[in-house]
Amino acid sequence: MSNENILEVENLTVSYGVVPAVQNVSFSVKRGSITTIIGSNGAGKSTIMKAITGLVRVSGGSIKIFGQDTTNQETDELVRKGVVLVPEGRRLFKTMTVLENLELGAYQRDDPASIEAQKEKVLEYFPALKAKLPVSAAKLSGGQQQMVAVARALMSDPKLLLLDEPTIGLAPAIVDTISDIITTVAQQGVEVMLVEQNAEIALEISTDAFILEQGEIYLKGKSSELRNSPEVQKAYLGI
Ligand SMILES: Nc1ncnc2c1ncn2[C@@H]1O[C@H](COP(=O)(O)OP(=O)(O)OP(=O)(O)O)[C@@H](O)[C@H]1O
Ligand SMILES: [Mg+2]
Repeated sequence: MSNENILEVENLTVSYGVVPAVQNVSFSVKRGSITTIIGSNGAGKSTIMKAITGLVRVSGGSIKIFGQDTTNQETDELVRKGVVLVPEGRRLFKTMTVLENLELGAYQRDDPASIEAQKEKVLEYFPALKAKLPVSAAKLSGGQQQMVAVARALMSDPKLLLLDEPTIGLAPAIVDTISDIITTVAQQGVEVMLVEQNAEIALEISTDAFILEQGEIYLKGKSSELRNSPEVQKAYLGI
């Protein structure tokens, strides 16, 4: 495996029962890139993200992260290695405050001073959340909730951050804010992998992309190339 690759997925197959949701998917993520998976409803995008983060069992193939085989490792162990997912649908603890949600993101740390320092760092990405720390998560707008979901993931100081449809259902202005934060986080040296149904946003933020159709990779390339491909434009960009 090349040192350049922080993630290598080879012939990944995941089945729910007997039906494969993802079949023989292979791809790698290079250091410093933002890789996106584009695909319509049910294509298998979340299944790939869950396989990488230990939330579903892999039935075939292998996953290597930072050069180590991590196939079917426990989520807890992966979080300790810096592999963290912002799940589809945010999954906040709605009855808890924003601050409590953020603190839960640091559950694997036990040094209060470093948790506090991380919180300050994370809030610099999300100045809008500073005033909301004592507010219950249920009272926030969808955009603010998504910010909390990303901020919570960043509380663990991840090395590889996976985001599953972070912009879905959000107003355009918030989509821009979230997109900018993803780009900034990547510039700070966090490796980013992103799943989107919105191909336009995904190809704008990412450097590399692949298109998943019915559990298999249909097209793969530089995001700029895919953006210019007539096939992609017709099927995914509505041009
Ligand atoms: N827990 C489950 N049990 C059984 N089938 C599942 C389960 N989760 C997903 N599937 C099926 O696996 C396939 C891939 O689902 P997946 O959630 O990975 O797709 P997706 O690309 O993330 O879709 P979406 O854009 O709707 O989030 C679908 O056919 C889905 O119905
Ligand atoms: Mg999904």
